[in-house]
Amino acid sequence: MSVDAAPQGTVPPPRRAGAEDLGIDLSDRDFWVCPPAERHAVFDRLRQERPFAFFAEPEIPNLPVGPGYHAITRYADLEAISSQPAVFCSGSGAVSIQDIPADLNEFYGSLISMDDPRHARIRRIVSKTFTPRMLERVIGSVELVVDDVLAAARRKAADGDGAIDVVADIAAPIPLRVICDMMGVPEEDRAMVLAASNVILSGGDPELVEDQDDPLTALLMAGIELGGLMERLAADRVAEPRDDLTTALVTTEVDGEKLTHQEIGSFFILLLVAGNETTRNAISQGLLVLQENPEERARWVADPGLTRTAIEEIVRWTSPVTWMRRTATQDGELNGYRFSAGDKFLLFYAAANRDPEVFAEPQRFDVSRDPNPHVGFGSKGPHFCLGAHLARRELAVTFRKIFEQLPDLEITGPPSRLRSSFVNGLKRLPARLGGAA
Ligand code: HEM
Repeated sequence: MSVDAAPQGTVPPPRRAGAEDLGIDLSDRDFWVCPPAERHAVFDRLRQERPFAFFAEPEIPNLPVGPGYHAITRYADLEAISSQPAVFCSGSGAVSIQDIPADLNEFYGSLISMDDPRHARIRRIVSKTFTPRMLERVIGSVELVVDDVLAAARRKAADGDGAIDVVADIAAPIPLRVICDMMGVPEEDRAMVLAASNVILSGGDPELVEDQDDPLTALLMAGIELGGLMERLAADRVAEPRDDLTTALVTTEVDGEKLTHQEIGSFFILLLVAGNETTRNAISQGLLVLQENPEERARWVADPGLTRTAIEEIVRWTSPVTWMRRTATQDGELNGYRFSAGDKFLLFYAAANRDPEVFAEPQRFDVSRDPNPHVGFGSKGPHFCLGAHLARRELAVTFRKIFEQLPDLEITGPPSRLRSSFVNGLKRLPARLGGAA
């Protein structure tokens, strides 16, 4: 699978095929609150019938509407695009469909929306802070955090009628506390961090962004609050170094280069949003899929040796990050499809993760699936998830401890889904501890 670059101007403009005739519009926000099975049926059709389907961009107040995007749903196409960053770049914006102003793009995207050589430079520095020693220390704290959160959920159920919310009481606090511990965020700032990261990743969901006429301002305010917190923390660690990631970020040098405070602020925002919402949704939707597949749950509960493959299957199945964007830097052809410089491509990881060319019985949830070359953490290329190792350990500890400490956890109602195409998220998931009331 390869990309052939065409000399500029020699190829007639590509024909863009929409999907109106299939009754499909991925830019319709309501599509993203449909049950997953319905969404996957749509991805299946696109993969089979219109693998480069072209959609108009959803409108966002105060942003110009761009030219539209191609929805990539086949695993092979997604891998080809992801592995050729010089042809399909991230620097025009990887996390929004619309082009957003360059300074905002950098502030909110950090290295995820950057290309080489800047991406390589920053990734080298931050990779040096994600050392095995740092991760071991964080992983030690994961065990304590999970014990604490599960005990609090148990107390809440016991003090009331047994009802808890999986999202608010289990899935949200675990990754938030792990990242805040890792960065050394003070206790009193943590509620603000959760609220601000919710806004940034809300996809404009009305419940999280009150002013629907001006979602950009809400985004901006959330970023300013997080940036301000980071500035305080960075200054504090320069004066008084500690054993945390913030200290490592302000002190680490590669080839005599350090991160600027602005780069640290942006990276902090990226870590918060990339590390929180993703892991949170893998936990909540993982619990949901286990309840829907009781025999798979029973197999895993009985055999802790299945933890490695079960975690990978949960990430494949839930695909917490639905897509990332790439933008063509030149005209060319990809697996028989012609494109032009400036074309936008959304890499639908959620769709590639159910591609029958790669996964046997892709619509079956199988805790022992092996091999499982899913792209939930990204595909080949320089942007592969920096936190994959940490996320895997967090998920492994969380699920095993839930089996041991909350074996009576039972989901009692349908989830409330986030109205976002970007994050496959749950806002609420009602559950009960201690059997029927
Ligand atoms: C289940 C949990 C997670 C999922 C599904 C996930 C998924 C992803 C995906 C799809 C990408 C983009 C890959 C690409 O563009 O090629 C990514 C990038 C990234 N992730 Fe994660 N992630 C998770 C957890 C975490 C955690 C816990 C952290 C850190 C604490 C983290 C930090 C990052 C960073 C910094 C990047 C940007 C890397 C770059 O651009 O060089 N992620 N992640």
